[in-house]
Amino acid sequence: MAKKPPFRGKICRKPFEYFEIGTPREGRVPCYSCCPTILPNITGDLAKQSLDEIWNSEEYKKIRASILDGSYKYCRTDLCPEIQSDNLLDIGAIEDPSILDAYFNQKLELESRPKEINLSYDQSCNLACPSCREDFITSPEESQKAHLDKITNELLNRDLSDTKVIACSSGDPFVGEYFKKFLYELEGSEHEGLKIQIMTNGVLFNKRAWEKMYKIHSQIEMVCISIDAATEETYGITRKGGSWKLLMENLQFLSLLRERGEIPFLRIDFVVQDHNYQEIPAFIKLGEKLKVDQVFFQKVANWGTFSQEEYEKRCIYSESHPQFNEFYKVITSKELKKPIVNPGNFGHWIGPVHKDHRFNWRNAIIHSLRKRLRLWKVMGLKRE
Ligand SMILES: C[S@@+](CC[C@H](N)C(=O)[O-])C[C@H]1O[C@@H](n2cnc3c(N)ncnc32)[C@H](O)[C@@H]1O
Ligand code: SF4
Repeated sequence: MAKKPPFRGKICRKPFEYFEIGTPREGRVPCYSCCPTILPNITGDLAKQSLDEIWNSEEYKKIRASILDGSYKYCRTDLCPEIQSDNLLDIGAIEDPSILDAYFNQKLELESRPKEINLSYDQSCNLACPSCREDFITSPEESQKAHLDKITNELLNRDLSDTKVIACSSGDPFVGEYFKKFLYELEGSEHEGLKIQIMTNGVLFNKRAWEKMYKIHSQIEMVCISIDAATEETYGITRKGGSWKLLMENLQFLSLLRERGEIPFLRIDFVVQDHNYQEIPAFIKLGEKLKVDQVFFQKVANWGTFSQEEYEKRCIYSESHPQFNEFYKVITSKELKKPIVNPGNFGHWIGPVHKDHRFNWRNAIIHSLRKRLRLWKVMGLKRE
């Protein structure tokens, strides 16, 4: 008898909603239907095709089919936070008409546009975290610049209504000129329902950077700051080139913005590895002190920066790691059950995300309306 596909009837919405623009390589701009660490298949080349053409490319359709048949055969299921936290939805719980149409009528070509666009096309960064890169990349290569310019201009001219844009998961949004151009020039109010998620190491996210983004303040729905440590010493290992002092100052500022309701959701992130796992409880305390909404954990993956031997040392979560028992004590301790913890792809040990601390759409919409009201008032006053 044929083996039952492992996830039959369970739906991951990513390939039906998500579009990632990767970094140009050898004249191509690879795109993805999920985080490439988890689903590495290239769905198209933005240097030759338009975003909308890629959205319904054969590769996208193939990936969608693998979700609908329950095989998930292109996914690294061990690294997927949705699978590891048992967050896949039953088909009966899906409301999105395009996913239902795809499931029941095998319609893999979608009429709906991507709901989420992840900007991953510039690797420029002020840090050189060993988990991410072997050395500093402070600006793009000459051969990449024309692509980056074109993509940025296309995005600035695209109708981004009802789209969530993630800036960014490649370099840092406050370093490269292209991401900064996007964040500082985008006219947020022209795109009804646009939402922006900022992902940054936080070292350059200060009051000045915040003020420069004034045109998209009402659209920012979430800010995630990657830290990977709870002490300056460990930070020096996991986040090469970062400044603990500046980061702490900026976190105080962001915490204040959160308290004032200027940003609706603040998260601090931690990539778990051998160097930092003992600081997990202290990291949760740091999150509580800063009054963030969530403290997020995820497994270190090998992005090609580690040899196999080094990676095995970093992989504290592997049962064959010599310190696994110590790690296991930490990851299953009662601090990790706190509602503030988002277990990422450690859900199988920690449990699911606490309901009260999931991203709350209602809060985000109220926040956006309040900001708009404030803006109208200011504009009204200026006119008088
Ligand atoms: C590449 S960074 C880009 C955005 C920003 N520079 C930052 O650090 O948040 C996006 C996320 O990937 C995480 N990351 C870096 N190296 C990783 C690895 N080897 N495995 C898993 N996540 C990693 C970072 O900690 C960060 O949360
Ligand atoms: S800060 Fe982000 S982009 Fe920069 S090196 Fe670290 S993980 Fe990579």
